[in-house]
Amino acid sequence: MSVRGHREVLIDDFGVDPANTDAARAWDGEYGEFWAGQAARFDDFIAGYRARFLAATRITGGERVLDIGCGNGQTTRDAARLAGSGSVLGVDLSSSMLETARRLAAERDIGNASFVRADAQVHSFERRSFDVAISRTGVMFFGDPVAAFANIATALRDGGRLVLLVWQEERHNPWVTEIVRALAGEGPVPRPPADAPCAFALADPRRTRTILTAAGFNAIAFDDVREHVYLGPDAARAYRFVLGLGHVRSVLARLDERDHPRALGALRESIAAHTTADGVRYPSAAWLVRARLS
Ligand SMILES: C[S@@+](CC[C@H](N)C(=O)[O-])C[C@H]1O[C@@H](n2cnc3c(N)ncnc32)[C@H](O)[C@@H]1O
Repeated sequence: MSVRGHREVLIDDFGVDPANTDAARAWDGEYGEFWAGQAARFDDFIAGYRARFLAATRITGGERVLDIGCGNGQTTRDAARLAGSGSVLGVDLSSSMLETARRLAAERDIGNASFVRADAQVHSFERRSFDVAISRTGVMFFGDPVAAFANIATALRDGGRLVLLVWQEERHNPWVTEIVRALAGEGPVPRPPADAPCAFALADPRRTRTILTAAGFNAIAFDDVREHVYLGPDAARAYRFVLGLGHVRSVLARLDERDHPRALGALRESIAAHTTADGVRYPSAAWLVRARLS
């Protein structure tokens, strides 16, 4: 993660793997605070995927569910409603988002969801105690993904399910590529290494299959799902929202400040081109990944 929070994380106080120190600094810092303050906006952003993801979890009454990288907890709350007499544990690195998740669950009288601040890669989960582990775009940031998924596997009972929503390659996600290209202008577009922890770390199904197999999962399946993401009701609000996103902040931070007016003008043009009667929408593509532990 290149976005740094303004306050130092006391890494030792909740056991973060050294490979995830940068991620913890970002998510448990200013970037997580930005997400926590925009909970509804982020849920709207990804709303196109909500029903399909939830259906894929096949959660039934009485099940115990683990939500990895739960953020502000919308999927935790959705899972809790489906689990009924069961329960859901949401884990995340971000204190701010967990605070929001706890508040939103309480406001909605959801009594069977709990939340813990933890690095899912190394946290000591109660062994073999969950029926299903789910994550909506919360599992791409592990410094050591095989170790992380192997650790998540320890929490699942035999036959337990893993259901993930992860972004496909950047080229299928113009909400990133078009915006980054607009900002960068004629200049180079920075690309993280293919296996670096980032939003696109599980974009290649072959790599994801290798990781999950090494972590002990099988019956691994990928569904190609494509929806528009929603950046806001109008161009002005979408522009303000986009300026807080990690990839946008990274590109702007690398540009000479004298180039900012051009970059921001190009960003406004891109947003204008995607403004519809139904708000600002860009195409996107994700994988719905299902696997089992046996
Ligand atoms: C893109 S957000 C998704 C949040 C939420 N799942 C949602 O759909 O709104 C990614 C989340 O993963 C969390 N995360 C990243 N690395 C993590 C780790 N090693 N352990 C636990 N959570 C992690 C971040 O703190 C962040 O809340």
